Amino acid sequence: MERLDQLYEGKAKRVYRTDDERFLVVEYKDDATAFNGQKRGTIVGKGAVNNRMSNVLMRYLESNGVPTHLVEELSERETLVYAVQIIPLEVIVRNVAAGSFAKRCGIDEGRVLDRPTIEFSYKNDELGDPLINAYHAKALGLASDDEIEEVKRLAFRINDLLREFWLSCGITLVDFKLEFGRTDDGTVILADEISPDTSRLWDAETGERLDKDRFRRDLGGVEEAYVEAMRRVRDRLEEGGEAL
Ligand code: TMP
Repeated sequence: MERLDQLYEGKAKRVYRTDDERFLVVEYKDDATAFNGQKRGTIVGKGAVNNRMSNVLMRYLESNGVPTHLVEELSERETLVYAVQIIPLEVIVRNVAAGSFAKRCGIDEGRVLDRPTIEFSYKNDELGDPLINAYHAKALGLASDDEIEEVKRLAFRINDLLREFWLSCGITLVDFKLEFGRTDDGTVILADEISPDTSRLWDAETGERLDKDRFRRDLGGVEEAYVEAMRRVRDRLEEGGEAL
């Protein structure tokens, strides 16, 4: 598969066409942004961690019946994925109150929720990814009824699987953001990435944050947190006798 011209550059990744229109190459960058691009920086080594971690987690989900866009890791920072039409929703699942949810609902960060929640943001940088509900998504033609149902089903299933995976790494999965795409035949599959950029990962014992909140909130030890989260994933796979 040959990598051709760049199709799109996002805040954390570049996407390239290939000589086969069914596939794209994603390249992970070390660039970090927060607050809709108002805060900018570099997290050295982040691209390599996110590429590998996202692929490991997507393989794990695949092996448990969740369809994803992952085809093949090509290099330290590049992965071959299926070309899909992205459903313009940021799908956020939460197990523990944190971030915008804790603020909006006026509760302390760290409160374990009675049950997992889901919410949607309209993926639109100009508007700052506003929170919307499923009715809005359908009224705006962003997704069909069936697609919303499938997104919800997959998101909660992914939450169950990831929660268990991260717990076996000594990490509490607080919340995370997913994006889904539709294939040519209309199947909804997981796309984008799963990484410390898009998840809140807290040490299960100490509560130490091993994710992008260290960058967002100027907590220090940003690079180390990404490396530590990746180390735990690697150790977990080695214990299980699984190859990376
Ligand atoms: P929030 O509490 O700021 O709404 O974030 C919820 C989760 O979504 C958190 O794990 C970080 C992730 N997230 C993204 O991946 N991209 C974004 O643009 C935002 C705002 C959050």
